[in-house]
Amino acid sequence: MTFTANPRRTRLALAEIAPDLLDRTDAAGFPAVGTAASAPAPVRDVRAWVSEIAELTQPDDVVWCDGSAAEKQRLIDLMVQAGTLTPLDPVKRPNSYLARSHPSDVARVESRTFICSEHEDDAGPTNNWRDPAAMREELDGVFAGSMRGRTMYVVPFSMGPVGGPISQVGVEITDSPYVVVSMHVMTRVSSEVLDLVDRGQQWVPAVHSVGAPLVDEHGERTEDVPWPCNDTKYIVHYPETREIWSYGSGYGGNALLGKKCFALRIASAMARDEGWLAEHMLLIRVTSPEQRRYHLATAFPSACGKTNLAMLRPTVPGWKVETLGDDIVWMRPGPDGTLRAINPEAGFFGVAPGTGVETNPTAIDTLTHDVIFTNVALTDDGDVWWEGLTPEPPEHLIDWQGDDWTPADGAADRPAAHPNSRFTVAAAQCPSIADGWEDPAGVPVDAIVFGGRRASNVPLVAQATSWEHGVFMGATISSERTAAAEGAVGELRRDPFAMLPFCGYNMADHWSHWLRVGAGLGSEKRPKIFQVNWFRKDADGGFVWPGFGENSRVVKWIAEQIDRARGVRTDSGAVTSPVGLLPAPGALDVDGLDLSDDDLADLFDVPTEAWLAEAGLTAEFFDTFGDRVPSALRTQLDRLTDRLG
Ligand code: OXD
Ligand code: MN
Repeated sequence: MTFTANPRRTRLALAEIAPDLLDRTDAAGFPAVGTAASAPAPVRDVRAWVSEIAELTQPDDVVWCDGSAAEKQRLIDLMVQAGTLTPLDPVKRPNSYLARSHPSDVARVESRTFICSEHEDDAGPTNNWRDPAAMREELDGVFAGSMRGRTMYVVPFSMGPVGGPISQVGVEITDSPYVVVSMHVMTRVSSEVLDLVDRGQQWVPAVHSVGAPLVDEHGERTEDVPWPCNDTKYIVHYPETREIWSYGSGYGGNALLGKKCFALRIASAMARDEGWLAEHMLLIRVTSPEQRRYHLATAFPSACGKTNLAMLRPTVPGWKVETLGDDIVWMRPGPDGTLRAINPEAGFFGVAPGTGVETNPTAIDTLTHDVIFTNVALTDDGDVWWEGLTPEPPEHLIDWQGDDWTPADGAADRPAAHPNSRFTVAAAQCPSIADGWEDPAGVPVDAIVFGGRRASNVPLVAQATSWEHGVFMGATISSERTAAAEGAVGELRRDPFAMLPFCGYNMADHWSHWLRVGAGLGSEKRPKIFQVNWFRKDADGGFVWPGFGENSRVVKWIAEQIDRARGVRTDSGAVTSPVGLLPAPGALDVDGLDLSDDDLADLFDVPTEAWLAEAGLTAEFFDTFGDRVPSALRTQLDRLTDRLG
């Protein structure tokens, strides 16, 4: 990897954000991982740890995984035999399978997700905190014998390309072959990771058990079931010692521990300590007709269409969007002074319902082979279906719970596919995957975009007037609740940085950290910050903006604003408003769209009374964090109130 950058600039930036890292740069010129202020923690012995966990959980066998295709196929065959996976039609959907989870194990369980920092304040009011010593004792009891009668798999994995300067490694122990196969798709599973560990690389230990032993304490054996799990669940994180323990669920973010647990909760705490960012964002490359490139990292709450934007097919002529990631972005100040970003994952674990030829044709083209579908419906000809795949459902289906289903059942509000049903597929087979998407040095981020699902108040797009204002935008995202987590769908919830369920430390400290990283980057190189909202509704309750491919019009304006900031364009693209810069009349390309002047006015309306009310709620929200809220954000709130007043 090559950089034409000025290394001196980076060292200045580092001097501001992480002075203790100054003398520690790796071969690529990135600051080395680990705070030099304290002696590096001794690297855990992976083999001793595996023995310790085996002693606690008492599996029948221990299998060390190597990430090979043969290993994956062996486990798939085992799961087909056990009834966990149903092979789909080999012509319609080659090498693809359907899994049906237990009906009680269908989403992340935030109520059972714990951050066990030494001090409660370090977890903050948005996390479930537990005392680490007490939790360790409790989990010792919970995990004792939890793998009896099962095989324990040891899965060494890398988040990001193995050995890359922004990458991190971990080892997941699991008693679920479904988890192993999913980790093959979602992460880089490889014995090379063990080589790195043997050479002294820090790694994150992650223990997972479905909590369904097949042999009881008297040696009595029971039959296995297709989707073992336990009614009691624990998703536990120790951010200081960087460990993960997960029990009772086999589903998604609860069980694929590289994803939310490592790449967000643990990584966010590592990033705070080490001067980088681990965020719930998609990552795209946008290319203009003039072949200028822009990289956008975009935060949306769960199930608000991140995958659709990640795979956007622009409707504006001459513009191209390529996919780098759809859920998580790690960003680190690079040797060239820019913020460099990677997608630490290797696959997509996307929400199936709503994904269709109209809404996301690229996803449909990605899903033609080698996919694991979970909790979607099965068609009579051995293929899959979910709400939104086609406008009309087939005449007959087997629903996600394995029961007969006809369209009349759907009308009775019994969806054929679970609303949080998913596809698990390798990113490499996405037709819009960007060239060089696995470059370990990442891409330079030009824009950070925050989005929420808001029927009112928030304009289609606004640009922050400063980094601090942008951090304020991120800190105040709210969204209507979706099906990705438990709770009433539709209810408005604050979701700062779209990280509410994923920040491994005090959310207010996360805002301070963003301010610090931005200050370190300096105003020239740091990304511009924007806010978008595709979901604004009119007085009749209909969406005003067509969304999907037409969102490219907003992306185009964002790119042009970056050009203007760089002096590439000299026209004026924006006008001020109390909530940020809005497109100047004519600057947003709406050619050919069926949008009236009233619609446009609705999309950019900033209603004073409603915004003042929202500012009041923001003050209350900030108060829940007490004095940990950075003063720069309180100042931003005061200024917003002044501008509205
Ligand atoms: C996800 C989520 O699964 O955010 O990506 O819930
Ligand atoms: Mn997500």
